[in-house]
Amino acid sequence: PLVTTGELVADAREKGRGVAAFNVITLEHAEAIAAGAEQAGRDAVLQISENAVKFHGGHLAPIAAAAAAVAGASSARLSLHLDHVESVELMRAAHPAGFSSVMFDASKLGYGENVEATADAVRWGRERGIWIEAELGRVGGKAGEAPLDAHAPGVRTDPAEATAYVRDTGVDALAVAVGSSHAMTERTAALDHELIAALRDAVPVPLVLHGSSGVPDEEIRRAVASGMVKINVGTALNTAFSGAVRGFLDSDSTAVDPRKYIAPGRDAMAATVAGFLGLLG
Ligand code: G3H
Ligand code: ZN
Repeated sequence: PLVTTGELVADAREKGRGVAAFNVITLEHAEAIAAGAEQAGRDAVLQISENAVKFHGGHLAPIAAAAAAVAGASSARLSLHLDHVESVELMRAAHPAGFSSVMFDASKLGYGENVEATADAVRWGRERGIWIEAELGRVGGKAGEAPLDAHAPGVRTDPAEATAYVRDTGVDALAVAVGSSHAMTERTAALDHELIAALRDAVPVPLVLHGSSGVPDEEIRRAVASGMVKINVGTALNTAFSGAVRGFLDSDSTAVDPRKYIAPGRDAMAATVAGFLGLLG
């Protein structure tokens, strides 16, 4: 069934577990996430990023409706989240499109401007019952962005600043920079577990790990154990999908019907989803 992100995150946190959020680009991503969640017997968040909406010609409604329908038909508890939103106009479209949560991403702005823009987003969300996640610090590797030095000052999230940020914005969850980076195709990221524990103690809201595709299994387990709650995974699904499609087409140069090669891609994504869901406690 389609449920709210707020309830999935609250439930995971209460049980000392993590809840995974997977990026949806196509209908088949949503189907694979539902299948993986059903296999694993776990909840999941279906998240659609601003970049994915741009891929669909700027139209939010069709892919959102597809993901919501997949969630509604599934036996797993699934929610719909709008991810990495920089456009206020897109954020506002989340409500009529059926999203229960939004990550409003003002992390490129300076601290003061980030607080101001995010507090406005939270006010908008409160009036509509929409759960708001925001980012403090810089998780690098976003599409179209220059690479970041993960150790440069102002990149990792500072616990004292995080306390003030959550108090002054009123966000429901905080995405933090603790060593992961977006769009990694190899799982070699090392997380700062001391910083995760310090952030968990410093802020009253659940923490969100972005760029989890590049984080090894054991590091994800430890991160959840030390207080990370929402675990965002995107690239790993695409790596699995592309590998399976490439393998199929390499072995069959006459295939034309997309169902022939998309099906193994979708199965590979479902297996990847189930694998991540098994790490969350
Ligand atoms: O918000 C989405 C996630 O942070 C996904 O990152 O593609 O590196 O797994 P990833
Ligand atoms: Zn992210």
